Amino acid sequence: MRKIMIIGAGDLGQRVCAELAHSDRQWQIRLVGRDGETLRRQVNLIRFSSLQRGFHSRLDHALTDLNDIDRTAEVIAEFAPDVVFLAASLQSWWVISTLPAERFQRLYAANFGPWLPMHLAPVHKAMQAIQAADSQAIVVNAAYPDAVHPVLAGAGLAPHIGIGNVANNVPALRYSAGAILDIAPAEVDVRMVTHHYVSHRLSRTTDISPTQLRIAILAEGRDVVPDIGLVPLLKPLTSDYRRTGGLAGQAMTAASAVSVLLPLLEQREAMVHAPGPLGLPGGYPVVVGPGPLRLALPPGLAKDEAVAINQSGQVGDGIRAIGDDGSVLFEESTMDVMRWELGYHCLKMPLSEAEDRARELAARFARYQERQSHA
Ligand SMILES: NC(=O)c1ccc[n+]([C@@H]2O[C@H](COP(=O)([O-])OP(=O)(O)OC[C@H]3O[C@@H](n4cnc5c(N)ncnc54)[C@H](OP(=O)(O)O)[C@@H]3O)[C@@H](O)[C@H]2O)c1
Repeated sequence: MRKIMIIGAGDLGQRVCAELAHSDRQWQIRLVGRDGETLRRQVNLIRFSSLQRGFHSRLDHALTDLNDIDRTAEVIAEFAPDVVFLAASLQSWWVISTLPAERFQRLYAANFGPWLPMHLAPVHKAMQAIQAADSQAIVVNAAYPDAVHPVLAGAGLAPHIGIGNVANNVPALRYSAGAILDIAPAEVDVRMVTHHYVSHRLSRTTDISPTQLRIAILAEGRDVVPDIGLVPLLKPLTSDYRRTGGLAGQAMTAASAVSVLLPLLEQREAMVHAPGPLGLPGGYPVVVGPGPLRLALPPGLAKDEAVAINQSGQVGDGIRAIGDDGSVLFEESTMDVMRWELGYHCLKMPLSEAEDRARELAARFARYQERQSHA
């Protein structure tokens, strides 16, 4: 029986766990977190609701704190998963959206890149544990894979593939193209290359630099986007096909995660969209399954060109460059926002400093939140 371990029992980890448990397919699921009583109740909620719906899930839990790499390695080695799904983070993307609206907008202007240490630090620890456990599992990561994976690639510790971001827009694009071409959305073959920076904006604007996005819609093997036009294709994503965002919108992310996890568990080939495959920056169409992952790029687009599109989006997110050794150069303009709002400033971060930077960010953000609640 195939086994999946979900590490990180927050909102997304629980959603994905429930999606996998509410099924009659034969696999074993272990949800891993660091708070025993909370975790027990979460797992009970999922397995009881699964049983109530007539399914026979095999779900249990294990305890570890990712800061304890040896313990985490033991937990992994003991279960020997085929697939590991990482959903741990020190501060999920939605946390700043809980600030008062005006403060949120000010901090949001810094974009997502400066928050990289909050996602990188726990994934780095999880990957060290996976390596120490000598696990052969395929590792799928949710936490900012567009940037976390190329950073960890330098240390040979990149998860195999990410989930979400680029993928979260694909269903709306299939609806949009389907309406234009007068075919069912399920028949639309999309190939999209873009970074988190752009995928995050597609539900709000069509004003996207062509250097940061490539979309092909394949009909009988031919790309019809030049016939349709990019703006008519994208415009409905900001109106008729806009979806609920925020925490509730993580249902879309969970579905994107399942789109990657199911073929890996079932060992069947599938074309999906995912960020951070093969340690690359940004998002791509990818074939996953029993064999090695491979890119499934739009026709005529070379791998180097696809990477350049994503590196351009990466700059938009506030990350100027990621070195081969995993060191990160941040954009000055976005760091100016962080300095002004939080007193945080970091233009260069070697991987070895990510954890300290995460701690500093957490402390400064906590003080910022505190000040807002007394304002
Ligand atoms: N790619 C996408 O499209 C997409 C979309 C949505 C979310 N995400 C990302 O997915 C990640 C998870 O999001 P979320 O909304 O589920 O966040 P969340 O609800 O805050 O969950 C994060 C979990 O990580 C756990 N964690 C943190 N440090 C840990 C440690 N040292 N040991 C064990 N567990 C630890 C937390 O445990 P405690 O509760 O004990 O603190 C929490 O359960 C974030 O990086 C988020 O930005 C990605």
